[in-house]
Amino acid sequence: MFGGFVFLTIFAFPNSHTMSKRTLITAALPYANGPVHIGHLAGCYLPSDIYARYLRMRGDDVVFVCGSDEHGVPITIKARNEGISPQEVVDRYHALMKKAFDGLGISFDVYSRTSSKAHRETASDFFKTLYDKGVFEERITEQYFDESANQFLADRYITGTCPKCNAEGAYGDQCESCGASLSSTDLINPVSTLSGGKPVLKSTKNWFLPLQNHQSSLESFISQKKGDWKTNVYGQCMSWLKQGLQPRAMTRDLNWGVPVPVNDAEGKVLYVWFDAPIGYITATKELLGDRWEDYWKGDDARIVHFIGKDNIVFHCIIFPAMLMAHGGFNLPDNVPANEFLNLEGRKISTSRNWAVWLHEYIEDFPDRQDELRYVLTSIAPETSDSEFTWSDFQARVNNELVAILGNLVNRVMVLYHKYFDGETTDAIASFNDIRHNTVIEEAYESVASHIEGYRFKQGLIAAMEVARHGNRYLTETEPWKLFKTDRDGTRIILNDCLLLINQIRVLLNPFMPHTSQRLSNLLNVNDSMGATWKHDLTIPASHKLNTPSLLFSKVDDTAIEKQKSKLEKEDATGPDENQRTHSPIKDEISFEDFKKLDIRIGKILRAEKVKKADKLLKLTVDVGVREVTLVSGISEHYKAEDLPGQYATVLLNLQPRKIRGVLSQGMILMVKSDKGKLSFLQADDAVSEGDMIG
Ligand code: 2FM
Ligand code: ZN
Repeated sequence: MFGGFVFLTIFAFPNSHTMSKRTLITAALPYANGPVHIGHLAGCYLPSDIYARYLRMRGDDVVFVCGSDEHGVPITIKARNEGISPQEVVDRYHALMKKAFDGLGISFDVYSRTSSKAHRETASDFFKTLYDKGVFEERITEQYFDESANQFLADRYITGTCPKCNAEGAYGDQCESCGASLSSTDLINPVSTLSGGKPVLKSTKNWFLPLQNHQSSLESFISQKKGDWKTNVYGQCMSWLKQGLQPRAMTRDLNWGVPVPVNDAEGKVLYVWFDAPIGYITATKELLGDRWEDYWKGDDARIVHFIGKDNIVFHCIIFPAMLMAHGGFNLPDNVPANEFLNLEGRKISTSRNWAVWLHEYIEDFPDRQDELRYVLTSIAPETSDSEFTWSDFQARVNNELVAILGNLVNRVMVLYHKYFDGETTDAIASFNDIRHNTVIEEAYESVASHIEGYRFKQGLIAAMEVARHGNRYLTETEPWKLFKTDRDGTRIILNDCLLLINQIRVLLNPFMPHTSQRLSNLLNVNDSMGATWKHDLTIPASHKLNTPSLLFSKVDDTAIEKQKSKLEKEDATGPDENQRTHSPIKDEISFEDFKKLDIRIGKILRAEKVKKADKLLKLTVDVGVREVTLVSGISEHYKAEDLPGQYATVLLNLQPRKIRGVLSQGMILMVKSDKGKLSFLQADDAVSEGDMIG
């Protein structure tokens, strides 16, 4: 049925791949005051690694840099609390983070650090250049000073009563109770955490970068990025620019950091956000020596900064202003910032140990790096905050990696050994069934364009689609039945499958490099046949495949329960069980924007579970004017049978969207407690369907 027609596989890849420049990829330098967790990985290090691996496979000239951010006040606080030096703190975490990144296959070309002598020199020189050009404004300001400790106090060393919400224990820069950004002088009854005494205000000189001088250059730089940069990044930049840029201190009165390299600056260091991005330059120099400038200054070079959303202003406004003031540097081509990943319904919190630490994952799940890479890419917070749960991890591994990809590979390998002793006859250069050509061509095109557009989640889905296709093809052709009557036909089908697997090996490589390597081993092909993006993937004649072995194995309930109880235990031992962790206040919107929202009371008529989606309920809701279908992720909090009759608040004019095959025509607004518990938003008086809110 499939024999006889041979189609020569020359994949003509459409010419949409415009990036062939030299690319410098940076991943945010993580603070060396704690280990790295899955939120860091999903938000920054995995996307940057996928991007770097893909560009390398395409043959681009790529440099991928990172390192530890080893300055800043929290490191000094940690050192003080532990009775060790800041250097000891950063040495410990630098080593731990480096090992964790290696363990997960994050392919930095260099992992540097900012407490190195080389960095001190680079950052000092940069500051000195700006200083000599007269860029800085010197300002005398009043700062809190602890007389008994004889030192100025960073904002984090001062606590007091929040002027906004009256909570005790607010920090000098932020109240963790209400999320307000504060100045230390705003605090009521300030106290020094060094001595417990009352700090006094004292004059001090610092150097300020007059960001307002760069306002118009930054406006024209950023406005060119409209449509190109992610909307969250572009929007945040525009909102900063709209407020009008102000001078910002680039030095601090602190004894840990890069000393300010000018006279009369004793006891002062560079602001951590001045020296940290320069860490990218240090890392490039460490890797390339004199050639570093090619990547930072060359006309044919582009810079891409991968970061989390809390770093946007530093990478899109402050660092570019520093680079402009210095002169000679390229500005970032793109800053694909991600949102945040939550864990089991709550914000990840380092201080409360509410996190999955990478070094512990590596220990608890040895050789399962790609399972985490796969799941975190699948749920990456690319356009909004997303959530990791251990049950979802288990489901995705078992139902997708094991059941789809692993199953395809295992079936093909086992059958090829069973029927043909694991050995090819003729070379397999092209597909017999030409339908595969389209699938493969589309997959390459789709994966490439998604990665190039920083949509890694979609890219992974497109690559996995080939495995789904392979399984469908096997089910359709049933070579295990055909073998009884048609040995040659069976070989033709399995040859097509081998070639599909060989392509999957390449397509998945940026996302799951360890799996790709395992596929190379199983197929007994070497990396030179898989390390490039477009190529002939011929499997040679008389080629012996390796013995089949499982690509993935199921994650069992015990392993998941262990992780869940570990989290609970860690949470219980966290520093303050009652401490509430609120999200910071979102960017301002206009009243006009608010008026666009159509929010009404609805009454739930019917509720049922959505197939194959543990958390989702499909609700039929009467909103007065009509009945609507809404899909809502509340099934862990409410039983479907309890819901009919319940009043709910519904955002009605949200663009309809398909969720697990069901079209949701709006959204139920729920209240989420800091523990992640969801509850309905209720009016305190009788309401009926269709009542408007606003
Ligand atoms: O937010 C952070 O973890 C910072 N340490 C990121 C620094 S990125 C860069 F500029 F180095
Ligand atoms: Zn407050």
